[in-house]
Amino acid sequence: MPDWKALRHEFPLLDRYIYLNACSLGPLPRRGRAALERYAHDWDTKGTPVWFSDWLPLLERLRTRVGGLLNAPQGSTAIAPSVSVALTTLASGLPLPAGRNKILIGELDFPTIGHQWLSRPEFEVEFVPSADGVTIPPEAFAERIDKRTALVATTHLFYTTGYLQDVRAIADAAHAAGALCLIDGYQTCGCVPIDVGAMDCDAFVGGCLKWLSGGPGTAFLYVRPDLIPSVRPHGTGWFATRDPFSFTLEELDFADDARRLETGTWAMGCHYAGLAGLELILEVGVEHIQERLRDLTDRILERCDEAGVKTFTPRDRNQRCGIVTLESAHPEEVEHKLLTDGVIVDSRPGRVRLSPHWCVTESELERGMDLVLQHLGAATRAR
Ligand SMILES: Cc1ncc(COP(=O)(O)O)c(C=O)c1O
Repeated sequence: MPDWKALRHEFPLLDRYIYLNACSLGPLPRRGRAALERYAHDWDTKGTPVWFSDWLPLLERLRTRVGGLLNAPQGSTAIAPSVSVALTTLASGLPLPAGRNKILIGELDFPTIGHQWLSRPEFEVEFVPSADGVTIPPEAFAERIDKRTALVATTHLFYTTGYLQDVRAIADAAHAAGALCLIDGYQTCGCVPIDVGAMDCDAFVGGCLKWLSGGPGTAFLYVRPDLIPSVRPHGTGWFATRDPFSFTLEELDFADDARRLETGTWAMGCHYAGLAGLELILEVGVEHIQERLRDLTDRILERCDEAGVKTFTPRDRNQRCGIVTLESAHPEEVEHKLLTDGVIVDSRPGRVRLSPHWCVTESELERGMDLVLQHLGAATRAR
């Protein structure tokens, strides 16, 4: 088991706030700060040759580490600047079954998933409803997959409720009907062990901003190796080609591996920090982080039950990980008041969202929950 106390020293921000918003912006680790300083130093001391001495090797290492996180084979992962961009690439590039135009999306999914296909008039988007507002059972997807369904695109864990979907069941239902399955795992990368082969999804996207503590600007994608040769994104760039430095203009010769999903020059500073966060999490062990977060979220649910506060998160530990959402008529007011008291949480329409960092101590969690419950009550009483 990791030494949580020792690891906490990696995150100076945790000494300033009770941090209950790790699913939005993971705190900067000391080694992330050191990586950003190294980026400036490498750039400043080496100039152009830095591309070959440091930057291209760093990108390769980043793709490999993403492969380690996802249990994906070498050559099946690529870097993107955001999950939205990764989805844009896949929306035009995935080899969807011919003659089908229906895209199935869960109604609790993150908006950018819907936007990708709503912005493409050639697709018909259908949203799978949630009966309880918390979960969507895989059967609800299965029932709506038909001969017109080209793709099921959904998130691994819902950002509004913390419900962890059974991806394998959804992928099996999609495949049985001849459709593909794409998973957005931004809310599980770094807190739920991921094995894209075992999930059997055709594509997967994620990023370093949240549970990987790598800051904005580093996202990534995976495509099933046997599909890669037929992936031909419409939005592309010279770094997606087999040999960018051949400077071939009149032909588009895509790279053989998942690099064909990348585009232009990478925002290197972001990737220094992204890699540092990712390597730290891999060292700690995602399976340990998952258990720690389930313990912390158990306690949040208990405190809410005791206080009679309604939550929108599954009770079953195996169906959640790091997020609990609480009913609130005035979530932004609660968020602002808590910030004044040194507690960072997030608000979403009608809800206060809590996602403790895994180094938050038990006593901090109790104090944080005292304040959360106090401000929730106060915001209600004040009306
Ligand atoms: C599940 C999920 N997908 C996608 C996004 C958006 O990612 P990006 O801003 O990198 O496009 C978020 C952001 O919170 C998210 O929670």
